[in-house]
Amino acid sequence: MRVEPAAALVGHLAVPGDKSISHRAVLLGALADGETHVTGFGRSADTESTIAAMRALGVEVEEPADDELVVQGRGLRGLHEGEGPVDCGNAGTLIRLLAGVLAGQPGRFELTGDESLRSRPMERIAEPLRRLGAHVETTDGKPPVLIEGSDALHGITYRLPVASAQVKSALLLGALNAEGATTVVEPRPTRDHTELMLEAGGVRVRRRPSSVTIEPAGALRLSEVVVPGDFSSAAPFLVAAALVPGSELTVHDVGLNPRRTGLLDVLERMGARLTVYHRRRAGGEPVGDVEVRAGQLVATTVDADEVPLLVDELPLVALAAGMAHGETVVRGAEELRVKESDRIEAVTSALRAIGVRIRERPDGFEVTGVPARPRGGKVDSRGDHRIAMLGALAGLVSREGVDVEGAEAVSVSFPGFYELLDSMTRR
Ligand code: S3P
Repeated sequence: MRVEPAAALVGHLAVPGDKSISHRAVLLGALADGETHVTGFGRSADTESTIAAMRALGVEVEEPADDELVVQGRGLRGLHEGEGPVDCGNAGTLIRLLAGVLAGQPGRFELTGDESLRSRPMERIAEPLRRLGAHVETTDGKPPVLIEGSDALHGITYRLPVASAQVKSALLLGALNAEGATTVVEPRPTRDHTELMLEAGGVRVRRRPSSVTIEPAGALRLSEVVVPGDFSSAAPFLVAAALVPGSELTVHDVGLNPRRTGLLDVLERMGARLTVYHRRRAGGEPVGDVEVRAGQLVATTVDADEVPLLVDELPLVALAAGMAHGETVVRGAEELRVKESDRIEAVTSALRAIGVRIRERPDGFEVTGVPARPRGGKVDSRGDHRIAMLGALAGLVSREGVDVEGAEAVSVSFPGFYELLDSMTRR
């Protein structure tokens, strides 16, 4: 895919439903009593994997429209062994949250996925689920993951060694079927979509700034889940408009959960002109419209405390830093090494290839910004959707354009990405 330089990004848009919330709607809908109607469902390769996985475990999912689902709940312990392993595709959220769900289901389950997923760390969920009383085995710490569900799970207090919403969620979902309360203590706050949805489903959830406690649930009832636009899918548009002079873009109906919107704070510190308006709540999640206008940016520092609030947007921060005046440092972001690719390495080589002055750190990167368009060139996505999007943006803000190799990876989270980007671009 060749992406030519943009003269500006102008107009109004909406992005597909949030991927994190869409996964959770299907998983929790399956554990609920009765039907769950999901609207604004974000359809992508990852969320299709979740639908397929739940069908393989005996759950009926109807698809009345592209962005609408009806999940026929089977109750908290109503899943059953399918035939053969459950394929989680590329989806880290699916394999980790599903492991938690299965910890309390009768049967033996095997979870696996594509080559990228099979290289990702799974002991981080296996260890706390074992403490809960489940029998979980990994393959040298990675998928395939084998789970033997137990009907004798017991609540625990667990301090997360890494700030990970996926690990927190796996444990909370396992704890639904445990005896006694479970408390998860977080080193730093991470996205709380699981807690919010459990609460909406009638589960007793006690939330404190650095921990969350749930009581085992007798039953879960969701009825309806309204999925807001995915902030992480809006992010490339926001960053592109902040960087290309003359741009003025508004993203409507996007999720603004404060544990997801660290990018807004970082861009604001860098001097971007952002306005958030029409703030409201939809289905328990904060939602609003975000307007961005281009301006000259300055460098900033992103530390470990802020990282979970924009973990999937850090590649975009690196690109913005490349065009901002001064030296930007991102640190405490070693988790990026175990995402769909080693994103510290992937971002560094992608941006170097187009002429940005960026250096790798063990836990992040340092960028020496030049307030001008980078040259352009060739970016390899390495099969990682966020790196493909980074490459496309790099093309828009560059002088000569960018060839994105492995561009199709965007379908993992945002199948219509290039078409929408193109429709907002003036050349
Ligand atoms: C996600 C949590 C994050 C994020 C991922 C989705 C989720 O991972 O990077 O894209 O839906 O819970 P970690 O919580 O493991 O950092």
